[in-house]
Amino acid sequence: MIKLFAANWKMHKTQAEAKQTAEDLVRLSAALPPGREVLVIPPFTALSATMAGIGGAGRFHTGAQNFYPATHGAFTGEISPAMLLDTGATFALTGHSERRHVLGELDAFVGQKTAFGLAAGLKVILCVGEKIEERKAGQLAEVLTRQIRLGLADVPKDVVPEDISLAYEPVWAIGTGLVAGPAEILEAHVLVRKLLEEIFGAPARRMRILYGGSVKPDNAAEIIALDNVDGVLVGGASLKADDFSRIVLA
Ligand code: 13P
Repeated sequence: MIKLFAANWKMHKTQAEAKQTAEDLVRLSAALPPGREVLVIPPFTALSATMAGIGGAGRFHTGAQNFYPATHGAFTGEISPAMLLDTGATFALTGHSERRHVLGELDAFVGQKTAFGLAAGLKVILCVGEKIEERKAGQLAEVLTRQIRLGLADVPKDVVPEDISLAYEPVWAIGTGLVAGPAEILEAHVLVRKLLEEIFGAPARRMRILYGGSVKPDNAAEIIALDNVDGVLVGGASLKADDFSRIVLA
């Protein structure tokens, strides 16, 4: 399985900053080992500038943080999958913790978006993860089961497995410096794999499961080597090309 190193820039960077960071990242990651690829996920306004910064470098892709599940129409402020593909973006996130918990997106809507994005030709990364109070209440399995079953409810069973990835991002580890330990990551990723296998059967083994939450240059190698960890989704430490290149080379 090709490991995916994804940079979620969230609401950071102007066009000029994005282009410069992408250029620096490509240069600093020239020794990208085989079996790895890199995805940069800037704000919508910087997608084209990020593409320009990547400058056609192989194994570097761009993706979007969000989209609306319709082809076009009266949806003020929203962006369609076709508009993203038009910029050269090939991936998109759905269900990111900040969309769920800051912007109020519910499981059913996340599911609608995931299926729509895939049907429209995007590779989709469905993000899931429990809040600290859910973990403390022993609800990890329950939360992941609900988010994954509803998030994938409308995805056809014969979906190309490489087109769908899951990202396990425990909410308590996002932006806090609190990284989940190896045992916690292993436990969650096994659970995710089992759920994917229940839904899709054997092809689920070809679906990537990423870990996200306070991934840094000094913990990336350990995390990426764990069973069922097929990549990482990085926030804060992806903003500087120097830090993120140390993660993709870890
Ligand atoms: P941090 O790496 O800043 O914890 O963010 C994780 C994240 O939300 C990536 O999508």
